[in-house]
Formats: sequence, C-alpha cells, structure tokens
Amino acid sequence: MRTLAVIALKGGSGKTTVATHLALAAHLRGQDALLLDMDRQRSALNILSARPETGPEMAASSGPKLLSAKFAAVARGKRLLVIDTPAGAVEDVSEAIVLADIAVMVVRPTLLDLAGLAPTLSLVRGLQKPSTVVLSQAPAPEDGVESPLVRRALRALDYMRAPLAPVTLRARTAFQTALETGRSVEETQDPAAAAEIAALWEHVEGMLAWAAEEDLPPPAQP
Ligand SMILES: Nc1ncnc2c1ncn2[C@@H]1O[C@H](COP(=O)(O)OP(=O)(O)O)[C@@H](O)[C@H]1O
Ligand SMILES: [Mg+2]
Repeated sequence: MRTLAVIALKGGSGKTTVATHLALAAHLRGQDALLLDMDRQRSALNILSARPETGPEMAASSGPKLLSAKFAAVARGKRLLVIDTPAGAVEDVSEAIVLADIAVMVVRPTLLDLAGLAPTLSLVRGLQKPSTVVLSQAPAPEDGVESPLVRRALRALDYMRAPLAPVTLRARTAFQTALETGRSVEETQDPAAAAEIAALWEHVEGMLAWAAEEDLPPPAQP
C-alpha cells in the first residue's frame, strides 16, 4: 500500500479538494483507496458520503490512531491511503507526514498563503519525506500569459526551492460543484478541470511508484 498525506498548515488552501480528488482518481482507475480524514470538521467525509455511486472508502482518524488505521488498511489489502489533514495542527500533520510515502502540499498564490508555506516546507524537510507543492485556486492565464499574481507566486516558490508540481490547479467552479455530490471533476463536463486532476494524479502516482513494494504484516504479539 502506498500512502500520501495532503498538507498545508494554512486553512482554505485546497487540501480537502485535492485529497478527495486524489482518492476519487484512484477509485476511478480501479484502485482500492481509503481516505482518512484527520480534520475535526470532517469535510472530506461529508464530501465523499454525498456520493450516490460507490467510491473510495473513508474513515475519520486522529494523530494517535493513524498508525493502527494504516496497519488495518494494509491488512485489508488497500492499494492507496490518502490522508487529509487539518490546518494548524502541527502534531497531527507531522504524524501524517511520518506515516506517508509522500507529502502533497497545497498552496494558493496569495502572499499570505505563500508566507504560510514556509513552515509547512520546513516541517516536511525536517521529516525528510519526498514532497510536491501544488499551486491551487490560481487565476487562469490570459492569452497564454500568467497573471502577475501567479508569476509572483512562482517566483516565491522558486525562492523557497519548493518542489513545484508540473500542474497548477486553476480557480474553477467545477471543483466546487462536482464535490457537492461527492464526484470528481473527472466525472463532470469540465475537461480542463479533469485534465488538471488527471495530470496531478499521474504526477503523484509517479512519485509513489518507488513505494509500491508489498508491506510486511505487523509482527505477531509475543
Ligand atoms: N481549484 C479550485 N477552484 C475553485 N475553488 C476551489 C478550488 N480548490 C478549493 N476551492 C474552494 O476553496 C475552499 C477551500 O478549499 P478546501 O479544499 O476545503 O481547503 P482546505 O481543506 O485546505 O481548508 C472551498 O470552498 C473549495 O471549494
Ligand atoms: Mg480541509
């Protein structure tokens, strides 16, 4: 089983949108996925439980319970574990990063969000996990030219030596409306949004590929 943690110490960056879309992307590609929601607001659980069709399995979790939830998921043959994390909760977020193969950081292109990325980046670096940074809710380019906001954000991410993902998620209502019924934008009529999620999935799956070997079962208790 492979595990990814979606993190940002700042709220509203798009973590839950990314976490639910990655779990749905795995499900739509036939992978048995489990999403663990560590946020007390339970947004990810609310989103996925609105889905009329079958979807990825989901459960609530919190810092101390995360390890046993991971063992249980491995024992039940899950292929992918996606952990959605709360904002601000350094201990919970650290726990999720430590138990993950990769950390996916999500950031909006505003100055406040970019400033808030610095502590998230140093947390991930301190825990020595492979990671990627997804720019989210970015305004669309006009005539192929990125807005000054996005250009400045890219410069800031470069200053921080942030490992930028090769795909940017644009601000699109499809991301909001699709999740109202627990669906991915890949299941809606917005090909541009769908292409962004497909590209993000491909990127994340490539990063996870090295971690694909089978997990060992936990040793028997003495
Ligand atoms: N790419 C996007 N385009 C438009 N709205 C978005 C996008 N990503 C997130 N949002 C919206 O921004 C808000 C915060 O997103 P959410 O995923 O809940 O963030 P977090 O989990 O980091 O708090 C939600 O209302 C969500 O619908
Ligand atoms: Mg959230």
